Amino acid sequence: MILQVKNIRKAFDGMEVLKGIDLSVDKGDVVAILGASGGGKTTLLRCINFLERADSGELTFDNRTYDLAKITNKEIAAIRRRTAFVFQNYNLFLNKTAIQNVTEGLIVARKMDKGKAMEIGRAALDKVGLSDRLDYYPNQLSGGQQQRVAIARALATDPEIIYFDEPTSALDPELTGEVLSVMKELADEGMTMLVVTHEIGFAKNVSKRTMFIENGVVVEQGESREFFAHPKEERTSEFIRAISAKE
Ligand SMILES: Nc1ncnc2c1ncn2[C@@H]1O[C@H](COP(=O)(O)OP(=O)(O)OP(=O)(O)O)[C@@H](O)[C@H]1O
Ligand SMILES: [Mg+2]
Repeated sequence: MILQVKNIRKAFDGMEVLKGIDLSVDKGDVVAILGASGGGKTTLLRCINFLERADSGELTFDNRTYDLAKITNKEIAAIRRRTAFVFQNYNLFLNKTAIQNVTEGLIVARKMDKGKAMEIGRAALDKVGLSDRLDYYPNQLSGGQQQRVAIARALATDPEIIYFDEPTSALDPELTGEVLSVMKELADEGMTMLVVTHEIGFAKNVSKRTMFIENGVVVEQGESREFFAHPKEERTSEFIRAISAKE
């Protein structure tokens, strides 16, 4: 197990958004998180990757367990060095080219030699099918290409797990496919991924396990095949029907 979270809680202004969620991800697994808007999915990912501080709970990363109320900045930095995050809106630097976006973190934060960073950056962009777009700025790239740059930036840091927050939901349907196929390729190669998504096909066919979160709690989770074929909770079947109808 690479990641385990127990009883994670988070409130904003007294409103509880995460009400004690447990989850675990094994090395090499893809876990999908589904759920209606406002249910706490983004907050959950942000708390797990410390973009937001949880109020309480326990997080185990690579066999070390931390109390989320007490974890130190130093411990957070050490964990974050081994994880990566892909945002819905790409979060690229608009004044930097694709290759600069990918190498910036390596050169500045990780103090990597520029030549080595370029080599890794080129390989990462090649991996997502963008070796012919190294010197393009984000506004010269389609949404799907921008998201693939963001995935290359994640890959370049050689993470042990990548968190994705609705990576295709800002994209037109025809651009969604190119991003999902990169993600599927990573999954096939054994990358560990925790993916918030509305793409039912990805959850069903690529992820090993699927979780359904609503109002800050896990309503149901299971092996993806079983989860979709035989949901146990009425609320889960309703949700699956509703998002399937939209496709
Ligand atoms: N920084 C914040 N300050 C106050 N409230 C917040 C903050 N971030 C999130 N919330 C609230 O927490 C709840 C959960 O939000 P969150 O973004 O985690 O939902 P989500 O499941 O990701 O929804 P969506 O599918 O729309 O992305 C919402 O009610 C939201 O308004
Ligand atoms: Mg969200």
